[in-house]
Amino acid sequence: MKIEKNVLIMSLFPNEITKLFDETFNTFKSYEQENPEKFIDSLSDKIEGIAVMGGTNVSGELIKKLPKLKIIANYGVGYDSVDIKQATLSNVKVTNTPNVLNDEVADTAVALTLCIYKNINFANKFLLEKKWLKSEYPLSKKFSGTKFGILGMGRIGKTIAKRIEAFNCEICYHSRNQKEVEYKYFSKLEELAEYVDTLCVITPGGEETKYLVNSNILQKLGQNGFLINIARGSVVDQKALIHALKNKIIRGAGLDVFENEPNVPEDLMNLDNVILTPHIGSATVETRYDMGKLVYDNVLKMLTKNSTISPVN
Ligand code: 8YV
Repeated sequence: MKIEKNVLIMSLFPNEITKLFDETFNTFKSYEQENPEKFIDSLSDKIEGIAVMGGTNVSGELIKKLPKLKIIANYGVGYDSVDIKQATLSNVKVTNTPNVLNDEVADTAVALTLCIYKNINFANKFLLEKKWLKSEYPLSKKFSGTKFGILGMGRIGKTIAKRIEAFNCEICYHSRNQKEVEYKYFSKLEELAEYVDTLCVITPGGEETKYLVNSNILQKLGQNGFLINIARGSVVDQKALIHALKNKIIRGAGLDVFENEPNVPEDLMNLDNVILTPHIGSATVETRYDMGKLVYDNVLKMLTKNSTISPVN
């Protein structure tokens, strides 16, 4: 059934989700436009809902331009690209997609960890380049039984920890407050970094966590330490990280997120102690469908019942 409500779709969603939106609402797709800003301006007195992927900015300025806007439904658990302050001031609900992606992002964290410990991408290259015919591939470093530190013990942090338990690792964490979990808590990030072999970053982005992992933390992680970042590029000082990787201040890094996505510095790409993936933490058909469906359900509920399923303000 068609509902006479106007929804602005700012990013590309899975086809089934776009179809659901198209069948239910009057949809306007700014991501298809050559000049999205001009397009949105021409609709400013119409738009009641926004569906948007994390990474596409929803600025305060844009929110102020849309007097009928009731909801910004963010496709992603992290909503750092939405001006939440202005949304709240303008009485606009913001929703995210918690829980449905916990397993997926945790799987990706484990994949990156094993990949960097076992040097899988270089081993693969070694074979394809027929180097095996001439020599054995260099030995890598054992992961099972190491000390695994998690920065951020939220829903995804806990899901990662559950998986890491299977590797007989000692699991430790740092977060602003101690959580009701059995893992060892460090109130200071630098002490955690010094203690562990792997530091896995899974804390929200935004100003509060900017550059939490800086040159000092990398120094503490040390020459046998690995950094995994599956959260936001902004949490890690990328310049300091490149310096630490180049100079073997840390041993290696598995990175799914970067400071200025989709741009990744050549300096980082040229290193042989990294594995780099293009922000694929939640990117499977199944999980992206579940996330998209939650975005749709939030918009539907807000525009028909004036409430939401997973609000963040
Ligand atoms: C998405 C994410 O890839 O949920 C998040 O916060 O970073 C990822 O699941 C991202 O939001 C783009 O949609």
